[in-house]
Amino acid sequence: MKNHGTILNHFLTDGFDLKSHLTGFLPIDESNLNNFLENAKMELANLHPGDSSYGNSEFYEQIVGDKHLADLAAWHLTSKEYIANTLRLQQTFSRNLVLDFGGGIGTHALANAMSENVKHVFFVDINQTNRDFVKYRASRLGLENKISFHKSIEDTSIEKFDSIICLDVLEHLNDPGEQLEIFHEIMKSESKAIFNWYFYKGEKNEYPFHIDDEKIVKNFFQILQSKFLELFHPILITTRVYEKVKLD
Ligand SMILES: C[S@@+](CC[C@H](N)C(=O)[O-])C[C@H]1O[C@@H](n2cnc3c(N)ncnc32)[C@H](O)[C@@H]1O
Repeated sequence: MKNHGTILNHFLTDGFDLKSHLTGFLPIDESNLNNFLENAKMELANLHPGDSSYGNSEFYEQIVGDKHLADLAAWHLTSKEYIANTLRLQQTFSRNLVLDFGGGIGTHALANAMSENVKHVFFVDINQTNRDFVKYRASRLGLENKISFHKSIEDTSIEKFDSIICLDVLEHLNDPGEQLEIFHEIMKSESKAIFNWYFYKGEKNEYPFHIDDEKIVKNFFQILQSKFLELFHPILITTRVYEKVKLD
């Protein structure tokens, strides 16, 4: 088990061996990797029709293929400082049984699995390619015994989690408020949840898959502000930490 400083340094050095994992997992060699990463964001946006021809779940489950792996990998490698701050935050709050909902390329799940405060990480992602990639990464990093892989929260068979990580996912769901209700159900009174969101499609529609409907967003904030209590943390990022509001 590594200490938290060593885990952060490993991430800041090479994103937990991310490029070598990509060339090991995908049919792509090192000479084409940088090109693949550079084009990732626009290619993912271009896959989306930009209207409601299909729901976001279908987009992430069936359409994105390995384009989302590339998009997320490019983002984690170019925005290391931002991602590192979210890792610092989860190092402070993650304990025992951790749910990483919409875990993507696994940066947060892998870092949690490396932490001695964490017993087990349940990586949930609707996208099979992402689940297979992070399983591959976990075995390359010797973490396979501390992470399991699931398509949905129900598949984990866990009733209550000690920590929930849900980063850059809520704006991709058709009903993010409903997802908050589910998180509330599976938290204990002392559990911590780490959330962020970005309900914006971007200035040039760079994020056509983000939800920005006023009614849906308002409903999200109504649920958030009635059922969750924010805990202060000193890191200057938009990511927030919550407990359940204790209703008696
Ligand atoms: C923008 S990525 C964020 C990944 C990761 N949390 C991070 O911070 O890099 C959104 C992720 O949510 C997943 N996702 C979308 N809808 C989902 C759903 N209904 N259930 C589980 N995962 C979902 C996608 O497959 C994708 O991996």
